[in-house]
Amino acid sequence: MPEHHSLRIDIARLSAEIDALALISDGEPPAVTRIVFSERDHEAREWLKARYREASLEVHEDPVGNTFARWPGASTQLPAVATGSHVDAIPHAGKYDGVVGVLGALEAIRALQQSGFQPTRSIELIQFTSEEPTRFGIGCIGSRLMSGTLDAASTDILCDKQNQPLHDLRLNSGFTGNLAATRMLRDHYAGFVELHIEQGPFLERDGISIGAVTHIAAPATLRITFEGEGGHAGGKLMPGRRDAFCAASETVLVVERVALSTGSIDTVATVGTCEIYPGAVNSIPSRVRIDVDVRDIEEARRDEVISKIKTAVDEISMRRNVAAKIQMLNADPPATCAPQIVSIVERVCQAEQISYKRMVSRAYHDSLFMVRICPVAMIFIPCHDGISHRPDEYAAPEAIEAGVRVLAGTLADLAA
Ligand code: GLV
Ligand code: MN
Ligand code: MN
Repeated sequence: MPEHHSLRIDIARLSAEIDALALISDGEPPAVTRIVFSERDHEAREWLKARYREASLEVHEDPVGNTFARWPGASTQLPAVATGSHVDAIPHAGKYDGVVGVLGALEAIRALQQSGFQPTRSIELIQFTSEEPTRFGIGCIGSRLMSGTLDAASTDILCDKQNQPLHDLRLNSGFTGNLAATRMLRDHYAGFVELHIEQGPFLERDGISIGAVTHIAAPATLRITFEGEGGHAGGKLMPGRRDAFCAASETVLVVERVALSTGSIDTVATVGTCEIYPGAVNSIPSRVRIDVDVRDIEEARRDEVISKIKTAVDEISMRRNVAAKIQMLNADPPATCAPQIVSIVERVCQAEQISYKRMVSRAYHDSLFMVRICPVAMIFIPCHDGISHRPDEYAAPEAIEAGVRVLAGTLADLAA
């Protein structure tokens, strides 16, 4: 293991790269919008591959566009050590979510290269496809496929809002080949470490530099479609209306109430999308689709919330004479990080005299699925006010530098 404190992290270069990537966006700065398989996504991928090659990394892409940039180690036999995250961004996002784990990993590798460190195991940076659920309704498509959580055949039904199949979109983006080839065998990697902003308030509040993540909360998404009866907003009288949006609206409030009713701050539920058909001010909504995001650190309690939402939807739909269809888009178990890698993260923090604490990730990450094929840990850094998925998301350069330093030390330990 190299002396970590001898590592020179070029935070000015890294900050400039984060800023440059943020401009490859469909959003009005400072907002970042970068939807998977869009033109901007393609541009960002090309820009990143050029950065990887500048660092002499060997780049390849799999059939869904997961991108791998490898620093070859002395051993060609031993499994590599992996790191990385995503660069797709939800509409009106900030510039740090995912990006810190990709460009930060690149900087960690460059710092190790510069220090003269010779890895025994290869170190591989992974840039995952579609961590965000924006386009296809479920997140982490790249890591779900890699880990076998999603099998290639089940991707046939994945379409975007314009009904364009994932298959066509990936082919148009130049990612060909059988999707089944994205699957990796267990222990393909010796370990995976993801650096990420916390997306919550605790590190900043407590004045702590690093979160050593021990668990990742369990996410689920329900898609609920209400079908009522449309008609003229002036001509059709109020009694007997079957307004799909009124049914959806009641449901939104039920979601909030049920999540609050667990009495735990660890239960969260959100309705973040709503599509109204036909969507005219003078037309009664005949069809409405909402997506409901439900999460908890305790899977059983989350499932209880989901079941209460389903019961309420049945009642609302009967009473309003509006049909309701519920699809579970995903309901994933929580993940436990590998104690041996969490300990390495802590030891690196101690050696570097960087403050740290163990914590739970309330957001999900590709790490949630990587745990199914290899030991995983996550390194969190504070972000201002815990703000994320907003244009004003902010992580200070010193916070990023500490995260990169701890990531580099952890990778060096695992690859030595
Ligand atoms: C990831 O973006 C999440 O929604 O947790
Ligand atoms: Mn995100
Ligand atoms: Mn993220």
